[in-house]
Amino acid sequence: MQVDLHGIWRIGPVEIPSRLVLAPMAGVSVQAFRRQGRRFGAGLVCSEMVSCAGLSYKNERTLGYLRIAADEHPLAVQIFGSEPGVMAGAARMVEDAGADIVDINFGCPVRKVTKTGAGANCLDDPDRACAIVDAVANAVSLPVSVKMRRGLQNGSRTCLDVGPKLVAAGAASLTIHPRSAKQMYTGEADHSLTAELVELVDVPVIASGDITSRARAQTVLATTGAEAVMVGRAAQGNPWALSQIMGERGEPSREEVAAELILFMRETVRELGEQRATGFLKKFYGWYLGRGRFPRPFKQELVQLATLEEVEQRLFAAAPGARFVLERLEDELPQGDEVLLDLPISIYGGG
Ligand SMILES: Cc1cc2nc3c(=O)[nH]c(=O)nc-3n(C[C@H](O)[C@H](O)[C@H](O)COP(=O)(O)O)c2cc1C
Repeated sequence: MQVDLHGIWRIGPVEIPSRLVLAPMAGVSVQAFRRQGRRFGAGLVCSEMVSCAGLSYKNERTLGYLRIAADEHPLAVQIFGSEPGVMAGAARMVEDAGADIVDINFGCPVRKVTKTGAGANCLDDPDRACAIVDAVANAVSLPVSVKMRRGLQNGSRTCLDVGPKLVAAGAASLTIHPRSAKQMYTGEADHSLTAELVELVDVPVIASGDITSRARAQTVLATTGAEAVMVGRAAQGNPWALSQIMGERGEPSREEVAAELILFMRETVRELGEQRATGFLKKFYGWYLGRGRFPRPFKQELVQLATLEEVEQRLFAAAPGARFVLERLEDELPQGDEVLLDLPISIYGGG
């Protein structure tokens, strides 16, 4: 059975124009990544996890995660924490920043997060998890969604017990990444659990984990009854994975790859400032230029260059036609006024 990935669906009142969701990824899901995801077919994009404590202390870098551009909508901003009251306060800030959905992270397996009682740890404390969802849902008028793992231990089925409770507490949608926290990213996502969860709740379920092709997306949608699929690692440096899943475009040319990378670099500099962007972008070179698109040593060469200007020049030298593709992309890009929270002026540093 072919599922139409172009179908419209809803989280609460928020209309989502495709069944493809771009995953939240810490250290990846900057605004440039999310805008690109929307351009390539994602119906919903999500910020990386934002610390509710950081927001409550008005930490400048944390507040920077709340910058939202006009062409990102619909957009979920994901928050993590373990105190219902602090999470509620953070959710209000997310609403004020202009997000469409507040997403709560009950999936992060990283010790730095779980040892504070946040992330995947909440799955082992359903009362606390429900108190968080309840507090957040009551604090904002936006729909609240939850993203979770299957449970903490391998083979765990905790998500099937906790999921319906979270819905009763006010969650308007659940995303399930059916690996255990212990597994991190090893093994395979077991989407038979996704299918079981779909049967248990009357809100949309999003399936996350190992969606890497159109065929896989179709199979997971058809066999689980999930409303949408979420794509993470497959889209790193590869927005074409999204359009391919949507059934729209084939492999990009070298010129297109170089142009998208340069656009991504320029937008990231605007967002993070030149200094932070220079280090941040290094991992993206391999992601964009790999997959047999450019010779291997080329990536090494780019990583070693001192400035982003030099990286751009090398990319243009390797794919001269990229200039024209980039020009077209920049012309087409909505110059969308950013909807900005009233942040300290230094947040805007770098334009
Ligand atoms: C580098 C990286 C960072 C991630 N950060 C987050 C995060 O901030 N919040 C979250 O809910 N999931 C996070 N995830 C999990 C992804 O959203 C997704 O559920 C997971 O990668 C499985 O999907 P995939 O196989 O399509 O990558 C992260 C994953 C990766 C690889």
